[in-house]
Amino acid sequence: MNSFDYKNHALYAEDVSVSAIVESFGTPAYIYSKQAITSAFNAYFNAARENDLICYAVKANANIAVLNLLAKLGAGFDIVSVGELERVIAAGGDPAKVVFSGVAKKSSEIARALEVGIHCFNVESEAELERIQHVAEKHDVKAPISLRVNPDVDAKTHPYISTGLKENKFGIHIDQVLDVYAKAQAMPNLVIKGIDCHIGSQIIDPTPFIDALKRLLPVIEQLKDMGIALSHIDLGGGIGVQYDDETPPDVGAYIQKVTSVIEPLGLGLILEPGRSIVANAGILVTEVEYLKDNGEKHFAIVDAAMNDLLRPALYQSWMRIEEVEKKAGSAKDYDIVGPVCETGDFLGKHRSLVIESGDLLSVFSAGAYGFGMASNYNSRPKACEILVDGDQMHEIRRRESFSDLIAHEILLTE
Ligand code: LLP
Repeated sequence: MNSFDYKNHALYAEDVSVSAIVESFGTPAYIYSKQAITSAFNAYFNAARENDLICYAVKANANIAVLNLLAKLGAGFDIVSVGELERVIAAGGDPAKVVFSGVAKKSSEIARALEVGIHCFNVESEAELERIQHVAEKHDVKAPISLRVNPDVDAKTHPYISTGLKENKFGIHIDQVLDVYAKAQAMPNLVIKGIDCHIGSQIIDPTPFIDALKRLLPVIEQLKDMGIALSHIDLGGGIGVQYDDETPPDVGAYIQKVTSVIEPLGLGLILEPGRSIVANAGILVTEVEYLKDNGEKHFAIVDAAMNDLLRPALYQSWMRIEEVEKKAGSAKDYDIVGPVCETGDFLGKHRSLVIESGDLLSVFSAGAYGFGMASNYNSRPKACEILVDGDQMHEIRRRESFSDLIAHEILLTE
């Protein structure tokens, strides 16, 4: 049985009915399944070898209870800011299993990462390499580095989440990377650990991953000739998930394929999965406030909005939306829209539903890039987050209050 499934026409999160969760915590609410996160992570962890690292991409869902669960399962973490690093530490994650990606690492962030002893910096430009050398020298330490190569492959995904093309801002172009490695070799406070790439997100056809790997192999060979022996290859994240009728790549088969290529080279493997660990481990539950009919169109106006879940507005992402309690009746074709004053504020369009005001809807596959991309736009407090474990529900983030909303604002007195 899936972690989110219907029993007698009512939606359950593991063994707890979603309506019961809403009775305790209200809407909108993000609900996650511990079991779903665990099994998605284990698909990676169990296929990888003992010294490989599965570095969960914190940006996908950064709640510290989620990070803590993953840390206990053996995860490392892929971070892109010192904020994410502090979350990992607060969650009991091991800094020695952290890789630090991102194009704009500040000196203070580099210093903190060196202080806690991260596993590796994924360096995205020559200028960044120089900065890391400088900060490491100042602190009299050696910084472990890997260069993020932009392999110029098309991940065939949404252009906003495609990162491995020459025109994208990410990584060092494959034609320049040997020169940058040579510079790194000459910098006294750097230790060259690996090679890295991340070509994009929500990738369904695995061919681009293998193409990227194939492009890195000759680079690794040439590095050997230069006297640079790498200890790992980091292939980033990006494996897609099923939102609708996609058939995502099998994680175990992908890891086996990669391992068979890199094992003879004596390389360890690092992966940075985000979405594929948490997307289908979470739902967003919202209440129908009003039904509105303009003659041609039916709108279901719900209490969750683009500030809670940005993906439909930003990428026109299709996310499955269904009634929490299935009722008999004639279905109508609804656009599911939120309270925010923007035409782009929708969660889904043309959904066939049997609903009335006061009913609950579930937006599925919302565990990744859901809460993490939420904002307070329209002065809307952020939703609560609930983690279900069997028949237990745990609040892992309280719903924001009005005082939370203005907590950092300062009223000027005369
Ligand atoms: N590593 C790096 C360097 C990344 O930039 C990302 C995601 C990941 C790993 C994790 O990728 P994943 O396994 O989750 O595909 N907000 C967008 C997705 C943005 C992905 C950004 N980078 C969305 O909602 O579709």
